[in-house]
This record gives sequence, structure tokens and C-alpha cells, in this order.
Amino acid sequence: MKRDIISVLDMEDDLADIIDLSIKFKRQRYQDYEGTYNRVLGMIFEKPSTRTRISLETAMVQLGGHAIYLNPNDMQLGRGETVADTARVLSGFVDVISYRAFKHENVLELAKNATIPVINALDDVEHPVQIVADFMTIYEKKHRYSNLKMAYVGDGNNMANSLMLGGALLGTDVTIGCPRGYEPRKDITEKARAISRDTGSKIEIVNNPGEAVQDADIVYTDVWISMGEEKLKEQKEKVFGSYQVNSALVEKASKDYIFMHCLPAHRGLEVTDDVIESLHSVVFQEAENRLHTAKGILYTLLS
Ligand code: CP
Ligand code: NVA
Repeated sequence: MKRDIISVLDMEDDLADIIDLSIKFKRQRYQDYEGTYNRVLGMIFEKPSTRTRISLETAMVQLGGHAIYLNPNDMQLGRGETVADTARVLSGFVDVISYRAFKHENVLELAKNATIPVINALDDVEHPVQIVADFMTIYEKKHRYSNLKMAYVGDGNNMANSLMLGGALLGTDVTIGCPRGYEPRKDITEKARAISRDTGSKIEIVNNPGEAVQDADIVYTDVWISMGEEKLKEQKEKVFGSYQVNSALVEKASKDYIFMHCLPAHRGLEVTDDVIESLHSVVFQEAENRLHTAKGILYTLLS
């Protein structure tokens, strides 16, 4: 016969038994876990996402786990529960958290207070999971990381910061070509330069897009208006007009250059249709690699 629990009194005969059973489940909690198998990823997204959300979720499922999409507006986080308390509570439920946040400080706060691994799924300073897919794509196309020049043309945003760090770690030269006043973060540039001294790569920032793209093996761009910057649209579109990656600009690149973009792209703004649709473009291979690298990252953190 069906049984409901509407009131505490519906457990009048077995309240203590249910607690005993729960204690048993608590003791057995990690019994059936192996690597990512049976593990749960909690995914907090303060901003929209196609690639990051779907790649992480699919990766987790295909690795034998499960993922839960968490919209802050549907959580108490949206009603003022702190990031720190959310981190401590989620640590009791799930096994790993990904967080796409407006503020880098909030990602740091979540990681500081969580007892489980936290993945930055993009914030205003970095986009580390994108970098793994980007350099995987570079390796697939060029079979090496060093003796390569990447030219990133556009806004010195989260992607520019993370690409400099990735290039520095793997030994790829990175030249950022951006308008004056839109350079990547100084502290990150310095950190990347310090690392690059050991790996033998060069991290440069120039204000002339042509100089950046000259002889580049990889031409990379990203949106001019990042999520959360919508108010700056008019102002930034004016400043960035001459930083468009178009056929005239890519003529300066190496003959077998590849074109990359983390996507989503705004055709006609940061890149023209003919460049993103050209045979040099690897943007969809790069996007697909988000899935494979999500697996690499999750497995590394959970095993
Ligand atoms: N490149 C990237 O992170 O895309 P989404 O915003 O769709 O996740
Ligand atoms: N710089 C962009 C990247 C999107 C994947 C943004 O932050 O919106």
C-alpha cells in the first residue's frame, strides 16, 4: 500500500528506524565510488552558457556520474545566503562544483569554503577550462606547443588573461594585440612573463593588430563585449573597430595559420564571416574539445 509522509506523525511507528537507516547510508556514502563513477557535479551558473554547461554535464554523465544545473535565482544564494555558506552546504551533497560567476572573488570564496574541488567555469578574470580545450586543439593541429606564435587580437579580457597563462605554461609565444587601455591584467601579465622565462616562450602586448598577427601560427579572438559588460557596448564597439579579425588582417599571418575563437562569435564585429568560415578556422573542433577536456579535468579532480 502507498505511504505518504505529510506530517511527522506519519512516521509515528518508525521515526527512529528511518534515522538508523540514514546513519547506515551515511557510513556507506563512498562505498560505490570509483573515480568519477556515481559522483555528482553541482554547476552554478550566474551567466548563460552553451559550451561550458553542456560539455561539463555530458562529460559527467559519460564518466558514470551525474550533473545538476544550479541557477542562483532558484537557490537561496539568490536570496542572500552567502557564497561561503553555499560552499559548505554543497560540500555535503555533491562531489565537485563548477561555478560561472560575475566576480572572481566569489569563485575564490567558494573554493576557500568548499571541502570539495571547485572548477572556475568563467569569471571576469579567467576562463581556465576553455584553455585546456584550446591548447588541445593547437596540439592536434600543430603537434607541438612551442615554436608557435599565438596572436590574440581584441579585448584584454578573461580569455586574454588565461591564454597568456596557458601559453606561458606550455611554451607557446602569445602576443596580445589590443587597444590602449584594454590590456590584460597587469598582475597576470607579469605572472605569465615570469613563467615564460622558464618555459622559453614570449608574452607580448602590442597596440597594433597587424604587428600582433605578423607571422602568427594561431590567430585568436573573442567578443568585444563580455557577459556583464552590455552597458559598454557602444563605447567598446567604437574603440575596437580596427581590431576586427578580417581577411586583410589574417594575410599577415603564417600561411598555415589556424583561426580560433572560444565562441560565441559575433560575426561582423570581432571576426568576419569569411575568416571564421575559412579552411583555417578550427572553432568547431575547439568547441568539441570542450567535452573531451571536461572529462580530463573532472577525472583528474575526482580520482
Ligand atoms: N566558450 C564558452 O565558454 O562558451 P559558453 O559561454 O557557451 O559556455
Ligand atoms: N569573454 C567572454 C567569453 C565567453 C566564453 C565573456 O566573458 O563573456
